[in-house]
Amino acid sequence: MKGLVVYGTRYGTAKEIAEEIAKTLKNENVDVSLFNAKQIKDHGISAYDLIIVGSGIKMGKWTKESKNFLKNNQNILSNKKVALFVSCGAANTEKSMAEGQEKYLDNISKEYLINKPIATGLFGGIYDPNANHGLMFKFVNRFIKKEMEKEGKDPNQRID
Ligand SMILES: Cc1cc2nc3c(=O)[nH]c(=O)nc-3n(C[C@H](O)[C@H](O)[C@H](O)COP(=O)(O)O)c2cc1C
Repeated sequence: MKGLVVYGTRYGTAKEIAEEIAKTLKNENVDVSLFNAKQIKDHGISAYDLIIVGSGIKMGKWTKESKNFLKNNQNILSNKKVALFVSCGAANTEKSMAEGQEKYLDNISKEYLINKPIATGLFGGIYDPNANHGLMFKFVNRFIKKEMEKEGKDPNQRID
């Protein structure tokens, strides 16, 4: 069986998850290729039996490259086994997991896939209060910290 794993990432977490998925498939004797969605433009995907596509989430959004991959290959993907995954903060707390599944996986499936995916994976992200992710992170981080405090978690702790 030939498998393809395609990921989009902003801070590197979805890449690590994609590498882990590829390693697991390899151990199951799947012939796996792994690509950043930015680099897959001219790569033929017809040869693959299983295609796994994923993304990190920022401000509720997949990376545009992963989304474009789904959009541009909609017809070919309808004849393949397809699985989706995301890496997102919503998966880090039990309270927000169902929302993450719906917003980042189920809705994307409905919007971009003709057939239902064979599997979806909701993975957590790395939360590093000291990360230098720019102004947007500083803004979002205020809300994240409040949520963490509500759940009795230490917002100054790195979570992986
Ligand atoms: C600026 C910023 C915005 C984020 N927005 C969301 C969000 O809207 N929903 C969510 O569940 N997680 C959000 N996160 C958490 C990321 O999804 C998480 O860190 C993920 O692992 C990032 O994946 P990547 O490293 O592959 O880009 C955000 C993180 C940052 C830094």
